Amino acid sequence: MSGFDGIGGNVTVDGGKLWADILETARFGATPKGGIRRLTLTEEDRQVRDWFIRTCEALGCVVTFDSMGNQFARRAGTDPSLPPITMGSHLDTQPTGGKFDGIVGVLGGLAVLRALHESGRETRHPVELINWTNEEGSRFAPAMLSSGVFAGVFTEEEALAKTDRDGVRFEDALVGIGYRGAERCGDHPIAAYFELHIEQGPILEAERKTIGVVTGVQGMRWYEVTVIGRDGHAGATPMALRADALVGTAKLIEAVQSIALKHAPGAVGTVGLLENRPNSRNVVPGEVFFSVDLRDPDDAVIVRMEEAFRSAAAQVASESGLEITIKLVWDSPAVRFDPTCIDAVRRAADSFGYPARDIVSGAGHDAVYMAGVTPTTMIFIPCAGGVSHNEEESAEADDVTAGANVLLRAVLDADER
Ligand code: GLV
Ligand code: MN
Ligand code: MN
Ligand code: MN
Repeated sequence: MSGFDGIGGNVTVDGGKLWADILETARFGATPKGGIRRLTLTEEDRQVRDWFIRTCEALGCVVTFDSMGNQFARRAGTDPSLPPITMGSHLDTQPTGGKFDGIVGVLGGLAVLRALHESGRETRHPVELINWTNEEGSRFAPAMLSSGVFAGVFTEEEALAKTDRDGVRFEDALVGIGYRGAERCGDHPIAAYFELHIEQGPILEAERKTIGVVTGVQGMRWYEVTVIGRDGHAGATPMALRADALVGTAKLIEAVQSIALKHAPGAVGTVGLLENRPNSRNVVPGEVFFSVDLRDPDDAVIVRMEEAFRSAAAQVASESGLEITIKLVWDSPAVRFDPTCIDAVRRAADSFGYPARDIVSGAGHDAVYMAGVTPTTMIFIPCAGGVSHNEEESAEADDVTAGANVLLRAVLDADER
């Protein structure tokens, strides 16, 4: 394809080294079932961050980190006045995460830096690789917290004050692993942002496409729900006198499911976190805390789903004598990516002859917030069975390599503009 004559030349990534990096970093937080448990700002996260610094420095990059612990590995360009073309993703995982979610984007970017370094290819812009802190949101809600601060969606103060379910403050955890940097998060001009990721859904694999040209990300909202009833003796409290918070919760979980099904196939709804108190087998549960995750490509549908959930909760509360509070803790509207960046990805995929299709992301990514501050897009590759947020998550080495090659060419294309 002529569009890439001269762009990228023959430079391609070393897929073998990229795969070896995936296996090597999978040691940090490895689970017996072959997945990774690398919650943000834990010892395992510190280990992989230290590895990131060592490895990027060995490729001639300068590595810094900001006040939210976001890491930046910069390869100099020929024009020091230009801001960097960036690539990034995250190295944190879910509690039972796999070896690819997030990691492919960081290590794929590393493969790009290595290809540039080893080929001696110069770029006008610096090329920079970013590891964002706390993309998953499973330890500290919400997800994409530090790219959110970077983009000005959250204040740093509110982010630092977040606590995990054990009451540990984000700031203390960040300082604890030695990654609270001096550069103020967001004080970092960027020319463009590209994120490589596994699809985390079934479409590319089913259609035998190697590359997903990501045109945007669906909207998502997170809620925290507290259901207050009354603790009671499991043997001596008659059924009619109970205010059972867990039974009320069961009805609300069912409501989330049926509301999402009503708006399917676009919509999804999930209750993923639940804490039952006092959680004792002979006590009628007096209090339950749970999360709700609602998503749809159309923000208006999410608003309707929220209304339906609130009215279900009002009904359960009045029927069961429970007190139910619903707090919206995260609202990430649907995002459309930059047409020029999307085009660069499409042309890069074509130039390699990789089968590709346009796709909208069901998962959240740091690219959502980056899209608000710089031309941004994403590149998807297939994952087996569309399975993700699961220790069995897997992807083919050839697809990972293909994704990194597309990332490389898209970055070089952006550099030429
Ligand atoms: C983060 O991984 C999300 O999409 O929830
Ligand atoms: Mn991810
Ligand atoms: Mn994830
Ligand atoms: Mn995600």
